[in-house]
Order: sequence, then C-alpha cells, then structure tokens
Amino acid sequence: PFQVYAGLRDNTPVRYDNHRECWDVFRYEDVQYVLKNPKLFSSERDRANASMLTTDPPKHKQLRDLVNQAFTPKAIEALAPRIQEIADELLSPHFSEGRMRLIDDLATPLPVIVIAELIGVPATDRQKFKDWSDALVKGARDDSDEAFQELMEEKKRNQQELASYFTAIMEERRQRPEGDLISILLAAEIEGEKLTAEEVVGFCILLLAAGNETTTNLITNAVRILSEQPELQQQLREHPELIPTAVEETLRYYPPIVAIGRIAKENVELNGQTIQAGEQVISWVGSANRDSAQFDQAEKFVPDRKPNRHMGFGFGIHFCLGAPLARLEARVVLQTMLRQMEDIQLVPETVLQPIQSAFVFGVKEYPIQFT
Ligand code: HEM
Repeated sequence: PFQVYAGLRDNTPVRYDNHRECWDVFRYEDVQYVLKNPKLFSSERDRANASMLTTDPPKHKQLRDLVNQAFTPKAIEALAPRIQEIADELLSPHFSEGRMRLIDDLATPLPVIVIAELIGVPATDRQKFKDWSDALVKGARDDSDEAFQELMEEKKRNQQELASYFTAIMEERRQRPEGDLISILLAAEIEGEKLTAEEVVGFCILLLAAGNETTTNLITNAVRILSEQPELQQQLREHPELIPTAVEETLRYYPPIVAIGRIAKENVELNGQTIQAGEQVISWVGSANRDSAQFDQAEKFVPDRKPNRHMGFGFGIHFCLGAPLARLEARVVLQTMLRQMEDIQLVPETVLQPIQSAFVFGVKEYPIQFT
C-alpha cells in the first residue's frame, strides 16, 4: 500500500471517502495532530466494553495506570532471559532442517507464550490458551455473509470460554496472590473501588487482542525485510548493536498497524477540510511513516536511523502500552536468528497472501529457508 499512500499524501492529504463514510488523513503532521488531541478526536467506541484503548481522559488514565508498572521498560527488560529461552525452544528444532514456517513455528507462539506467563496462565494450559488467543483475531474463511456470521458466533463462544477460564484463575489468585498481572489487577483500585471480575477479564482479553497478532506481524515484517534486502543480514551480524534501531525502522517501514481510528468530537478544520462532529477519522500512520517532510530518504530502510519518530506504536496518550515488550521480543528473535542462520530467504515461489484487514500490514504465511 505504501506506493498508494505517496500519491494520497501529495494530492488528497485529508479526504472524505463517501463509500466508507470516513475521513482519511495521510500526512505526518496531520496524523500527529489527530492523535495528540483526544479532546477533538475521541477513542470512545463501545461504552459497554470500555477498555483503555476505547476510552478518553480521565477514565483512560485510571485504567492505564493500573497496569503501567508491569509494562515499564525496566520491568519488561527483566523478562529478557525468559524470552530468550522461549525463542531458543521454538527456533532450535529447525536449525538443522534449513527451513521453517516463520509465522506458525515462531512469530505466533512466541508472543502468546510470553503474554500468557505475564498474565499468569499455568504452563499446562498453554495450548488451550493459544487456541483461544488465535481465535480472538481470526478472520473469516471467505467473504460470504455466512462465513462472517459463523465467525462472529465462533468469536462469541470463544470469548465466553476465555472469560470463564480467566474467572477460574482469578478465584485461585484471590486466595493466593502471585506476582502476575491477574494478581496485580485483583489488588488494584480505582477511586477506592476494586475492579469487577468482568473488568479484570476484559483487561486480560485486551492484552491478548492488542498484543499478539501485532507482535507476530512485527517479527514477520522484520524477517521479511531481511530476506528482501539480504545485505542487511551481514550488516546486522557485524553490528548487532544496530538491531534495536533496525526494529524501530521496521515499525516505521513495515508497521504492523497502518491505520488508527478516531471520532471527531467537534467540527474541526484540518489541512483546509472541515470535519464535522461525529464523523469518523482514520489516521494512516503507515503513510505518515513514509512522509518525506518528516523523514530523510523516507522510502528507504535505514537500519541505524536516528532519530526515528515513527508512529508505528501510535502517538500521544494511547501510545502502545506493550511497546517495550514488543521491542524486546523482536530484538531477541533477530539476534537469535542472525546468530544461528545465514542467507535467510523466503522459500522461492511462495505467493505472499496479505492479511485481509486495511488496518494491518502483514502476511498469512512466511516460509523461510536458510543455511
Ligand atoms: C495501543 C501498536 C504490541 C497493548 C497501541 C496503539 C498502536 C499499537 C498503534 C495505539 C492505538 C490507538 O491510538 O488507538 C502495536 C504494535 C505492536 C503492539 C505495532 C507490536 C509490534 C502490543 C503488546 C501489547 C499491547 C505486546 C500488550 C501486551 C496495547 C494496549 C494499547 C495499545 C493495551 C492501548 C493503550 C492505550 O489505550 O493507552 N498499540 N502494539 N500492544 N497496545 Fe499495542
């Protein structure tokens, strides 16, 4: 889509799409303006299932503060040895084979296992948990109405199963708190009141929904760049200290999330257009990230780019809570793969199938071979 964005940035930087009935915003400066003004552009969608992602201040900060401590860079850095262990476990069976299914064998299970352990899911339930997590973000098998209906029912059933599972763990942690997120959430209070069981469950489901597929796509998109630009592999092998900036550059160049939605609260003028209160506004961070007004050589992958004010994790008060975790997982994976594998490439003749969501940049499968 990145070629298309370039034309849109130049010709219709802020436009109304009659068909989709929403505004689209393509330039860096305008996207940033939308995301940094929650008073003008609201995240509130679904009052019944309000999560931090879909609430505005002041409620938003109350919810976010509850779990912030678990996601600070320092708290997350402490997970590095465990993430390394999981990455080794998932990768090592494939070293001798010379090929692997990057997504199924590594990029999907890794974030699921990590978040399961953070939340406090016992290792014995991991498979069950992974099936539920996968189902949370599953797409329909085709675009028929029946397939859509079927998917919605499956999702509902799945959410209920997951909710009752979390409820059971909650009961155990109420008796015997541990250091996990469920215990933290059970102890937490907002204005002197404990969270309800539904709120604790909702929090856990938010973390699964927001963190798993996105991290899967970050890992895959990063390896995809390495196989599209093989000279980078040697460069990063010789300079592993550049891996963190290369991960940031992946978030700019191939961001797992390319668009972020808001609703206008008031009539607002943006780049000469008037957006009416109540209208939907889509901020194309995938386009903003390639805006040459913000980035030198915007269409080039520069592994040591610094500064790199990409908006792959969003911007402003809703800036991704899980960013330190996603960065760490991607860093560990790249370090390990580059140490153990050479000439990483997409298996020849593979036809890449994009994920069918306009908001996501990623593929469904990415088989690789290496020496
Ligand atoms: C918010 C991207 C990984 C949890 C966001 C937002 C983006 C994003 C763009 C802003 C949404 C908005 O403004 O409406 C990503 C990407 C990831 C990733 C690209 C991986 C590469 C994770 C992980 C977790 C997580 C691993 C948790 C374990 C969240 C939460 C929010 C959020 C809870 C809402 C924050 C708020 O509303 O204050 N993420 N995310 N994300 N992300 Fe991530």
